[in-house]
Amino acid sequence: MSSHLFTPLKVGPLTLKNRLTMAPLYLGYADLGGTVSPALLAHYRLMAASGVALVVVENATVDFESGSGSPRTLRADSDAHLEGLKRLAETIKEAGALACLQINHAGRFAHAAEPLAPSAVETFGRIPRALTIDEMKRIAECFAAAAGRVAKAGFDMVELHGGTGYLLAEFLSPHTNRREDAYGGSLENRQRFPLEVLAAVKETVGRFPVGCRLLVDEWLDDGLKPEESTRFARDLEAAGIAYISAMGGTYESFGRPEIVARSRQAGYMLALSAAVKECVQVPVIAAGRLATGSVCENALAEKKADLIGLARVLWADPDWPRKVADGREDEIVHCNPDCGDACMQMVMKGRPALCVSWPTEKMKAWKAKFAGGETP
Ligand SMILES: Cc1cc2nc3c(=O)[nH]c(=O)nc-3n(C[C@H](O)[C@H](O)[C@H](O)COP(=O)(O)O)c2cc1C
Repeated sequence: MSSHLFTPLKVGPLTLKNRLTMAPLYLGYADLGGTVSPALLAHYRLMAASGVALVVVENATVDFESGSGSPRTLRADSDAHLEGLKRLAETIKEAGALACLQINHAGRFAHAAEPLAPSAVETFGRIPRALTIDEMKRIAECFAAAAGRVAKAGFDMVELHGGTGYLLAEFLSPHTNRREDAYGGSLENRQRFPLEVLAAVKETVGRFPVGCRLLVDEWLDDGLKPEESTRFARDLEAAGIAYISAMGGTYESFGRPEIVARSRQAGYMLALSAAVKECVQVPVIAAGRLATGSVCENALAEKKADLIGLARVLWADPDWPRKVADGREDEIVHCNPDCGDACMQMVMKGRPALCVSWPTEKMKAWKAKFAGGETP
């Protein structure tokens, strides 16, 4: 039915068979301690077999001690996790998709005794400690080593997590970066650390493609805005990024009533990907309730994005790509904006997430996968 969605696209050295990607979605399916579990493999097998060209796996930490988002966050921070990551990459590729792993340091939102950040700016009652330059160097090395493991594990690409208000985004943001040294103040200074991380990663992985999730708009009055993030996007491109995946908001803005209302709308982040696309030549991924074939087709036709990122949309219905391709859109099981962000609530409580829109049989089957564990 489609003129754009099911056409191929080159991303760096890779050819994506269509414009559909899975956007990173942390669901708490790894075991406690961040090891690859049978449930996680089953989940990604399903996502990769859906017909999307590329699966970008949820964030994996580059440093368990200081930078993990939760006890179930995947780990790319030590060779002990290489075997699990190999199985994950293999599973995705065997099911027919290219595999990318997102790597992250959670900064002030880390599940850590003493969260680290560019500056000591309070968040949800906790004050992180400002990083020293030596610590920043070590974290850049952790990113580089983690990216090396991603390549070694057999993934096709690696993605730096520069979204959701985690460490790389915290450096860019004037709201969270109040440093008075060479890493704070002007945009040039605030983007220095993320660009150093990218340089360290590229030095380690060579020609292996590196993408970036980018916080385009922090949706806070004193936060990062598209005027600056798009300038950073240009510099990412100049530094050899393979693609940019646009997103908006952080944990500090997601709960604002106007953002809650906005994020219920179809295509609510398309303005952000469109702003990035105007500034760069590399492929741009959009996400955010791209729930129907026509919303996606229009986004591509209107050049608001080159690739579609489906997160909850695909998780709610892994048959979404086939149903859209076959013109069976009335059969799609949709992520329900009225569910009160149930999946997010479950993972924030440290539990594996289940989608409240799933049919009863599927819900039962997935609950059984976590039997003995903490089902919601
Ligand atoms: C429960 C949950 C977990 C998420 N985990 C990640 C993540 O690990 N990395 C990331 O870049 N974005 C993450 N996101 C954001 C998604 O990639 C996506 O941008 C957002 O959910 C909008 O797309 P959708 O409407 O298709 O879900 C997460 C979102 C949710 C709701």
